[in-house]
Amino acid sequence: MADLTPLLAFRWSPRAFDPAARLTEDETASLLEAARWAPSAGNAQPWRFALGHREDSAWKRILVSLPDGDQRWARHAAALLLAAHTGGDPERAAYDLGQAVAHLTVQATALGLHVHQLTRFDRVGLATELDLAVGIRPAVVVAIGRLGDPFALPDDLRDRETRLRRRRPLDSLLLT
Ligand SMILES: Cc1cc2nc3c(=O)[nH]c(=O)nc-3n(C[C@H](O)[C@H](O)[C@H](O)COP(=O)(O)O)c2cc1C
Repeated sequence: MADLTPLLAFRWSPRAFDPAARLTEDETASLLEAARWAPSAGNAQPWRFALGHREDSAWKRILVSLPDGDQRWARHAAALLLAAHTGGDPERAAYDLGQAVAHLTVQATALGLHVHQLTRFDRVGLATELDLAVGIRPAVVVAIGRLGDPFALPDDLRDRETRLRRRRPLDSLLLT
């Protein structure tokens, strides 16, 4: 495998989060700043965020919007972030938002944190619960925290947590 910067090589999407860990104010500010400085088409910056810290009301609202199976592990995340976009050209906005979340993810690795994104959640219910303005489109929930003990997970989640991670070979990605 070709060399990768450790910021990318050490990134992965865990389910075992440390239930005692919390994000500091500085960590929270760094994560959001990383997203804020992402590039976007026409510098539109169509990303919007709702951030909850463990046990606060935004965190609880985001948690219950997830499927029961994902709540089992996401409830240990120190923070739950709803990443949304402002629509307009939805394809462009979704692309830009993805870059902003990718920036946040790299910053998380730099801070010794881990991130697990989820697109399966109740978008309509969460938009209502968070009283989001019309036109704000919830796209992804981002669980953020410190790594926990995989052996504390239920059996099925532990198996997925310890499974070998795979990617398609590079030559299958190249179109020409
Ligand atoms: C946009 C997006 C949506 C995802 N949605 C889910 C999800 O709903 N549930 C889940 O368990 N993981 C979800 N994931 C995590 C992926 O399954 C994970 O990134 C992928 O398997 C690669 O593993 P890695 O991140 O550890 O490299 C999502 C990831 C991304 C980027």
